[in-house]
Amino acid sequence: MEPHDGREQWGNRAGFMLATLASAVGLGNIWRFSYVAGENGGAAFLLVYVLCVLAIGLPAMLAELALGARARTDVVAAFAPAGVSRAWRAAGALAALASFLILSYYSVVAGWACRYFTGYLDGSLARLPRETLAADFAAFLADPTKPLIWHVAFMAATGTVVAAGVQRGIERAARLLMPLLAALVLLLAGYALSLGGAAKAFAFLLVPDWSRLADPGLYLAAIGQVFFSLGIGMGVLVTYGSYVGSGVRLPGAAAVIAAGDTAFALIAGLAIFPAVFAFGLDPAQGPALAFETLPQVFALMPGGRWFAVAFFFLLVTAALTSAVSLLEVPVAYAMRRSGRSRLAVTVPLALAAALAGIPAALGTGVWRDIKLLGRAPLEAMDHIAADLLLPVAAIALVAFVGWALPRQETLAAADIRSAGLARAWHGAVRYLAPLAIALMLVANAVASS
Ligand code: TRP
Repeated sequence: MEPHDGREQWGNRAGFMLATLASAVGLGNIWRFSYVAGENGGAAFLLVYVLCVLAIGLPAMLAELALGARARTDVVAAFAPAGVSRAWRAAGALAALASFLILSYYSVVAGWACRYFTGYLDGSLARLPRETLAADFAAFLADPTKPLIWHVAFMAATGTVVAAGVQRGIERAARLLMPLLAALVLLLAGYALSLGGAAKAFAFLLVPDWSRLADPGLYLAAIGQVFFSLGIGMGVLVTYGSYVGSGVRLPGAAAVIAAGDTAFALIAGLAIFPAVFAFGLDPAQGPALAFETLPQVFALMPGGRWFAVAFFFLLVTAALTSAVSLLEVPVAYAMRRSGRSRLAVTVPLALAAALAGIPAALGTGVWRDIKLLGRAPLEAMDHIAADLLLPVAAIALVAFVGWALPRQETLAAADIRSAGLARAWHGAVRYLAPLAIALMLVANAVASS
């Protein structure tokens, strides 16, 4: 059988768009966006973030989708068309490896969200006195088994969706969950805005403190967040693009997905910040914002328990459809390479990702003395994957599409109707995107050395 024969496809254009949006919308929009924006002053960060989405994120996203749609194969083979140096395959392999690595610790954080969801559902967390919530989070993280059990459970759910197939697993989950998530985040934002912190939250998110723009760290945080949130550079979009049927136009789809992902982060911010402000808490709390600060808010707000149930359900399901996309990258590769069935490669790969996540799951507890690169395992893995591998893979990707592929072919694959826009896009992919990512990479390398 030809490797390209009998490949799965999305049911239709809407299915493709929902699945890709579901990949983009994840922990990055709710947990990561809120704390990064919180640390970087809110509105000034948001402004730079939106500009980066338009100038770098959207062009790179279209480049990645177009590469997949043109190659109709997994990320490694997509880098190896006839007439191009085989060395590029290394870039595809790097992307597949990095997506596997992100999956392994992403699932650990998603596991924390599972624990909070079930804890509010059964009421046990809602009964804790407010002063003990921070200590409770610390005790959970230090527990010898709980973070690990939730991590494994989440990975099993991820594997189950992927094993069910592109249409019957990934696309179906997105069709079912995305409308629910959209309704839920709007509802939460509406309720949060009614609590009295709305004016402060709008000021925080929409009125920039211009002096913040003098901080170079803000730009790096914004570019990094754009790549993470849109899910660029890991081969996810190559893989999802490779399942697109003929006749689907990519530029419009990419624009809708980028806009949807950004809107989702913003509305999640409107659910989180008003509530934080209404009770006089501080939004600049770092990664603990969702797990330590928000439970305090839930303890204070009327109906907080059910708000928390909805919030953590949102977090868990958004994480699930993103984790699914990360697992699909190595699964697509392994299916082609081994010729085995989807199920036969998904089980060992999900198992391997669960094993790879063990240091992250236990590193906050029994393995807390283990340090990688001077950091706790979870932070080290996030640093290696998101700050180093992701930019390298993303540069390789835009450089490949911008320089290695023939210009005409690239423009045809991207399928932009306006000649002027097509030129602007090609310029962004050739120059602006690689440069911006290289800058981010160097700054990250300097910061970590
Ligand atoms: N975008 C997802 C989020 O916001 C995470 C994610 C999915 C991702 N696929 C990716 C991140 C590919 C980097 C690369 O949570």
